[in-house]
Amino acid sequence: MTAPGGLSAPLADVLALSAQVWASVAAGQSLDRSLATRLPSGPSQLRAAVQDVSYGAVRRRALCERVIAELAARPPAADVRALLAVALAQLLAGRHAPHTVVDQAVAAARSHHATTRAAGFINAVLRNFLRQQPALVDRLQQLDEVRYNAPGWWIDAMRAAHPKQWRAVLESQQRAPALVVRVNRRRITVDDYLVRLAAEGVAATRVGQSAVWLHQPVPVARIPGFADGDVSVQDAGAQLAAEWLGVADGMRVLDACAAPGGKTAHLTELATLELTALEADAERARRIQENLDRIGATALIRVADGRTPAKWWDRRPFDRILLDAPCTASGIVSRHPDIPWLRREADVAHLATVQHELLEALWPLLGVGGRLLYVVCSVFPQEGSEQIARFIGRHPEAVPGPLPGGMPVRQLLPATGPAKAWDDLRSEPTLHDGFFYARLDKSR
Ligand SMILES: C[S@@+](CC[C@H](N)C(=O)[O-])C[C@H]1O[C@@H](n2cnc3c(N)ncnc32)[C@H](O)[C@@H]1O
Repeated sequence: MTAPGGLSAPLADVLALSAQVWASVAAGQSLDRSLATRLPSGPSQLRAAVQDVSYGAVRRRALCERVIAELAARPPAADVRALLAVALAQLLAGRHAPHTVVDQAVAAARSHHATTRAAGFINAVLRNFLRQQPALVDRLQQLDEVRYNAPGWWIDAMRAAHPKQWRAVLESQQRAPALVVRVNRRRITVDDYLVRLAAEGVAATRVGQSAVWLHQPVPVARIPGFADGDVSVQDAGAQLAAEWLGVADGMRVLDACAAPGGKTAHLTELATLELTALEADAERARRIQENLDRIGATALIRVADGRTPAKWWDRRPFDRILLDAPCTASGIVSRHPDIPWLRREADVAHLATVQHELLEALWPLLGVGGRLLYVVCSVFPQEGSEQIARFIGRHPEAVPGPLPGGMPVRQLLPATGPAKAWDDLRSEPTLHDGFFYARLDKSR
């Protein structure tokens, strides 16, 4: 029996591996890191199938956990719970005949020491679930935690942050993420790229200045022009960072939190710069080089902490600073459904402190007349509007905005589609993740 999407990896193997991924995510590891450490690198059918099943399971995490809590007489051991969860998620996905999923989950249980004795229990819970579905699912879907697949504190924080739109934000984050590429305007115009896509039979819509949404997701390597560096995968809201930084040839620019280098690469496409890409995490910093190599661009990559510039700054002021600060990532949950589960409530305040420290440390590096663009992929005000209001209060020389559209700061709530076509009169894309932007100009 094969895995989802007609891929030929055996489903029992896929379920067993996906259960390992689930267990490590439940223990606090990110989904992408867990997949990377458990799967052989490079594209393979097994990899694609495990990724698909694991993402699907995390997208239904709250529902699967509630089902297990209702149907298991006692809380199962972690390995058994994980296998049950991914099997339940596959039953909910409806891609296989139910009896196939049950049989393959039992086979997966038998193939591993930690779960072999629970094979009968797994069989019983899954069959019991099939008897009670869909009434059980309908009832559990009434719970906000299940409907929005997030812990209670996260839902409360969203409600407090956006009293009118919190449901829309949480709902939009349940949808599959859009595949959006950034057209490298040094190499090809957006119009010409759209013509190329049409010629190759790829349905697409322009959704931003350089942003094109490909209606059907495809593996990155199969995106027309990706291998040659004509396009890069990047959300249209993220593309605003390089656009709104306002760079011109010859400027000295700091990309202060740069890995994996999506915005660094975009900056090199917009102007010829003296560009420093700073990143605290050495492993992540390697990906900046990979991204630049693919598009044939260069930057000075430095592995250092932005909060301690005395250790790395050469005392020549920057004309532009992009501070794409570490954050809760509450704006990109549709791409990373594990985020609400990995974060703890205290992380919001902790990350706001790191952002504050980065702002304070980097602001002195900006020359008079220069611009700092502060970005977070978050929709929580502690990391956005409140952070910047406090900074402006402490720094009268920091003049906010304006950003395109006229406002000094912009909170983009996720807009996951269906997308309207973009036109030049728009100041923001028609399809994007959640971001906060603030422009700060240095007056003296
Ligand atoms: C939101 S991500 C940046 C994404 C990147 N700008 C892009 O577009 O590809 C934030 C990055 O900041 C890095 N970071 C966190 N704390 C830092 C610090 N104190 N100094 C420099 N980089 C830091 C993280 O390791 C992470 O790679």
